[in-house]
Amino acid sequence: MERTCLAIILAAGESTRMKSAMSKVLHPIAGRPMIAHVVDALASASISDVALVVGRDAEAVTAAAAHGAATVTSFLQKDRLGTAHAVLAARQAIENGYDDLLVVFGDTPLITAAPLVAARERLAEGNDVVVIGFQTAEPSGYGRLIIEDGELLAIREHKDASEEERRITYCNGGLMAIDGRKALDLLGRIGNGNAKGEYYLTDLVEIVRSLGGRAIAVEAPEEELTGCNTRAELASIERLWQQRRRHELMLAGVSMIAPETVFLSWDTELAQDVLVEPNVVFGPGVCVESGAVIHAFSYVEGAHIGAGALVGPFARLRPGADLGPKSKVGNFCEVKKSEIGAGAKVNHLTYIGDAFVGAGSNIGAGTITCNYDGVNKHVTRIGENAFIGSNTALVAPVTIGDRALVGGGSVITEDVPADAVAFGRARQEVKPGRAPVLRERYEAEKAARKKAKAAE
Ligand code: UD1
Ligand code: CA
Repeated sequence: MERTCLAIILAAGESTRMKSAMSKVLHPIAGRPMIAHVVDALASASISDVALVVGRDAEAVTAAAAHGAATVTSFLQKDRLGTAHAVLAARQAIENGYDDLLVVFGDTPLITAAPLVAARERLAEGNDVVVIGFQTAEPSGYGRLIIEDGELLAIREHKDASEEERRITYCNGGLMAIDGRKALDLLGRIGNGNAKGEYYLTDLVEIVRSLGGRAIAVEAPEEELTGCNTRAELASIERLWQQRRRHELMLAGVSMIAPETVFLSWDTELAQDVLVEPNVVFGPGVCVESGAVIHAFSYVEGAHIGAGALVGPFARLRPGADLGPKSKVGNFCEVKKSEIGAGAKVNHLTYIGDAFVGAGSNIGAGTITCNYDGVNKHVTRIGENAFIGSNTALVAPVTIGDRALVGGGSVITEDVPADAVAFGRARQEVKPGRAPVLRERYEAEKAARKKAKAAE
């Protein structure tokens, strides 16, 4: 029979060291609150019952955690008296009765399903407490794992550790699986007689052993247990997350010439055979179909890029940009909330907003859809295989028919039917032989100025 599990996420900390107006678990990694990454890891370990212990910014933290399939119930920890005290804030949920209790921290967003699953497996083998540990070259500040004959004897918090204990490099990652039937009894026995005067969850190890129970540690990669206490750690976690995700995408068939310069969002979807050149930033909500190329220095968010489309260099795609297969949006172009049809080209220095561009149309350099009148937004519709000459202002709402031709430099304020040619500019005048006359006059003016200056 499948074992039931309750995960308790501790996120009630003050985040003092972040020096921030908001709780640290709300700070984003890859564009999404840290806490949401933790909830995701639980979901991928098939854990759906989640108790969230909140303090500061309780409402916002709860909202950020409530996503995906998990059922998240929040508990307020009013005073912040330590990690064991925090777990007991979720007493009501624990009392529902679970086989496994899994305590995780809201500030370790790189955690994956693997160590969580491993900890539960070891619990199922008959251990009472399973702690997830990691080896590190810099153990300072962490609780040290004291191991003998494969059993975990104790976790010693840094502040309470002896010189000898501080030399131990095997540390507590802060994640703990506890026998759910014994948890409340064990937690109730924890006191606060330590250097910080807090109720330490880590005391559970010695308590369970004193009652004849068994505790062990399971090792996980240091990276997954990196905690976020400062802005500098926030940046390192972001860097690790980006490395991990780029690697996954490359293994899935995405090419990146300089992966370390490509920035992804938590939900960026890049299909097989997509090529991403250096210095590209993906904001949230981007999906790129196979064979598309994102040239260097492009910034893309909320956009769908069809198969074989070419973007950039230096393109900006904003939310609602939908590029058809084999279309092209070239340098210094901005596209917002617009469909670009299959094979259509928007090559240079153009703004397309609130528009539909039909398949095969060509939008000349410097074309602007004037979509905003200062109060309302209006739509521009361009048919298929139309040609818009350079430096054209399309004053929306306006419609250009299929195969229509618009002369360069036009200001188009009225609809252009299919197959029509439209100009919207002053007609050109030519005056034969007039250039030498003008030039003579300019030379005379220049000479007069020079003479006046010499006389000063
Ligand atoms: C804790 C562990 C330490 C471990 C380290 C790993 C204890 C006593 N120590 O130390 O062994 O090596 O994590 O990162 O458990 N929290 C609350 N309410 C409280 C106190 C804490 O919700 O009253 C939350 C915090 O928001 C945080 C987590 O619990 O998410 C850990 O607390 P923190 O104070 O960061 O513990 P550490 O000193 O890092
Ligand atoms: Ca911490």
